[in-house]
Amino acid sequence: MLKPVPSSVTTPDRLRELAALRQRITLWRSEGQRIGFVPTMGALHAGHLALVKHARSLSDKVVVSIFVNPLQFAPHEDFDRYPRREDADSALLAEAGADLVWLPTSELMYPKGFATKIELTGPAEGLETDFRPQFFGGVATVVTKLFNQVTPDIAVFGEKDYQQLKVVQTFTRDLDMPLEVIGLPTIRESDGLALSSRNAYLSAEERDTAAKLHAELHAIAETVQAGGDADASIERAKIRLEAAGFGPIDYIALRDADSLAPPSADSRALRLLAAAWLGKTRLIDNIAV
Ligand code: PAJ
Repeated sequence: MLKPVPSSVTTPDRLRELAALRQRITLWRSEGQRIGFVPTMGALHAGHLALVKHARSLSDKVVVSIFVNPLQFAPHEDFDRYPRREDADSALLAEAGADLVWLPTSELMYPKGFATKIELTGPAEGLETDFRPQFFGGVATVVTKLFNQVTPDIAVFGEKDYQQLKVVQTFTRDLDMPLEVIGLPTIRESDGLALSSRNAYLSAEERDTAAKLHAELHAIAETVQAGGDADASIERAKIRLEAAGFGPIDYIALRDADSLAPPSADSRALRLLAAAWLGKTRLIDNIAV
């Protein structure tokens, strides 16, 4: 629930023009300030705010962007109904200690004649890409543009979108982008459901069921850690989830935690990742194994 903003908390400036953003960043740089950045699509919750607080702890100034990026949605997806609440978000960002909210318009991000695509391989292959083939190209384009606009020293992303985190870490490294991309653990409800802006789509009944996805990931991880058969355990979990009302289940997959390739003898750590529909809502989650 939204708490009133204490009067001692100043609301961060909201900028919508690139020249104004660049001017502010240039000023901060001239003062020797270290700049942290958290890109978001808004409809902020405690997961986003944890990223902002972490950025705050690592830098002098924190910029948060809010932009519902049309490029990462397919035409049939939820771009139009994605929740937009700029005023409430700004109040939350004031409390979390953000200094600036960057609100670019679609026209600024993708003007007429925009003609550039980023091609990704490695961790961008499979999983989400099998079901949302446009997704990581759209994310890489918008995140690259946002990095070039804000020019942060660090950027903080959530492990909630684990494949996205790996994709961003990979292209920033590959393209020598001069910043550090830091991942933060997923913030969850008390029953284990990962916080997500899309949880707002769930009915009360679906909300009760939703936490089963995380519970089943834990059950699979326990089996794998005890030396059991991962594939059989995943199949059993899928059957239980379908019986509980989930479906279709896009994937539940055990992967190398770094490359996101199938596990191999060289894998140092494993990650279990899942995406499943509950009614009209697509939920994703992942845990370390
Ligand atoms: P969005 O879904 O708004 O998420 C913004 C950031 O918050 C991402 O790094 C995401 O992983 C993180 N986040 C979301 N839920 C979280 C949770 N429960 N715990 C911790 N972190 C969480 O991800 C996007 O936006 C977009 O793809 C974006 C990167 C902004 C590009 O458009």
